[in-house]
Amino acid sequence: MARITVIGGGYVGLVTSACFAELGHHVRCLESDPGKVSMLKAGTMPIQEPGLAEIWQSQAAAGNLTVTDSPAEALSSTEFVYIAVGTPESPDGSANLEYVEAAVDTAVKYSDLSRTICVKSTVPPGTCAGIQQRIRATAGVESGWTVVSNPEFLSQGRAVEDFLNPDRVVVGSSDERVSWSVAALYAPLDPKTVIVDSTASELVKYASNSFLALKISFINEISRLCEYSGTDVGQVAAGVGMDSRIGEKFLQAGLGWGGSCFPKDTAALEKFMQSVGAGSDIVSAARTVNAGQVSHVVGRVKEMVPVGDGASVAVLGLTFKDGTDDLRGSQAIPLIQQLLADGYSVRAYDPVQPQISEELASKVTVCASAEEALFGAAAAVLTTAWPELVSLDYAELGKSMRSQVLVDTRRVLDPQAMVEFGFDFYRPGDGRVHTAQFAGEVPAEQGSAPVEAEMLPQPMAAAG
Ligand code: UGA
Repeated sequence: MARITVIGGGYVGLVTSACFAELGHHVRCLESDPGKVSMLKAGTMPIQEPGLAEIWQSQAAAGNLTVTDSPAEALSSTEFVYIAVGTPESPDGSANLEYVEAAVDTAVKYSDLSRTICVKSTVPPGTCAGIQQRIRATAGVESGWTVVSNPEFLSQGRAVEDFLNPDRVVVGSSDERVSWSVAALYAPLDPKTVIVDSTASELVKYASNSFLALKISFINEISRLCEYSGTDVGQVAAGVGMDSRIGEKFLQAGLGWGGSCFPKDTAALEKFMQSVGAGSDIVSAARTVNAGQVSHVVGRVKEMVPVGDGASVAVLGLTFKDGTDDLRGSQAIPLIQQLLADGYSVRAYDPVQPQISEELASKVTVCASAEEALFGAAAAVLTTAWPELVSLDYAELGKSMRSQVLVDTRRVLDPQAMVEFGFDFYRPGDGRVHTAQFAGEVPAEQGSAPVEAEMLPQPMAAAG
């Protein structure tokens, strides 16, 4: 079993550290924030990630996993140095590599044994090759360092499960022997392994995230067509997804994609392609559709609840998806901003009570419960599929609202039930009419009222 040092105690670094320890390796995590180090030493996780705390605590107790803010302690006698620091979006959209470069400098300075740097952070194509050259220029070719790209494919909220059940492990470097030694770290998982050059490996990561993002944007574009056609995108996506060449995953229409990865990675790929003069028509289009999806849904809210008279909208869910406390890139934030700009007041609730920016907090009423958010609201918009929010007693809570308008951007509620509870109901991609007026006239097999031409949603000028 190997000795591994992971630089960075963010969500990728913590999951990588804990899971490598779970595979039997001896892992040290180097984190510069002393507050985080104290928490981790006490077995408390600074992020919410199912299963992480349990693995961390048991591996720490077994002596396989330690955390420190001392580079010398973390890097002495280690064999593999993993870099798992952030690559945030720069103002121009490109990936900011300053933390990666600082971590590389630390690795080279303090490693007394290791000569293998594995980059888990998402970095633009050519970065690992560039780092390799930089190390050779400063430390000399004879220093023997190999820089390996080994991207992560961990989805927040199920990152531990993803690490321990990988679809594939991708390893890229200029030295195949070193690449296989890195791949061997995952041997207990017996994964499919892809050994390529480092630039290809970096691009596998960008292309994967961008493809998933454009798959969602594609179904969101089709979902708008479904609204105009009086049908439901769920039925279309089910039929399309059954084609094994396409697959059913990431065909869930909604408010568009968010998170700390898709927005940042598509922006970086777009920027990178522009910088080499290649153009990025498809990735750019996916981003445009994604931004337009929020405007589209806000347009529907405006149709259902005219602004004015202090109409307030209850926004249920702030995090970019359920199972995480991460607000980064959450589509709920631009949705709230657009509702505010249109003159609505907003009452927001999220079960994990994430910290919103001071600026937004000064304009939004953050509520302690869904009940509080819904009380007196003219409309409710469900933005995150938290089980607590999906299983609310909508029949009862609807009665406390000023008007019973419900928008389910996650498409997790039963339209017919909501209509029976007295709601006017809309969800992205559903062009059938779900209003209380038609309750009882809904054909059972269709699950909604018959649509007449004049009932169809009108084309949205604001939709992107
Ligand atoms: C994503 C990728 O799925 C991971 O493979 C990758 O490793 C990770 O980014 C990363 O680069 O670190 P994550 O951002 O955690 O993971 O979240 P996803 O579950 O992929 O969801 C991204 C966004 O798309 C969310 O806002 C989600 O609600 C939305 N989504 C997802 C849809 O709107 N429809 C879908 O069908 C699926």
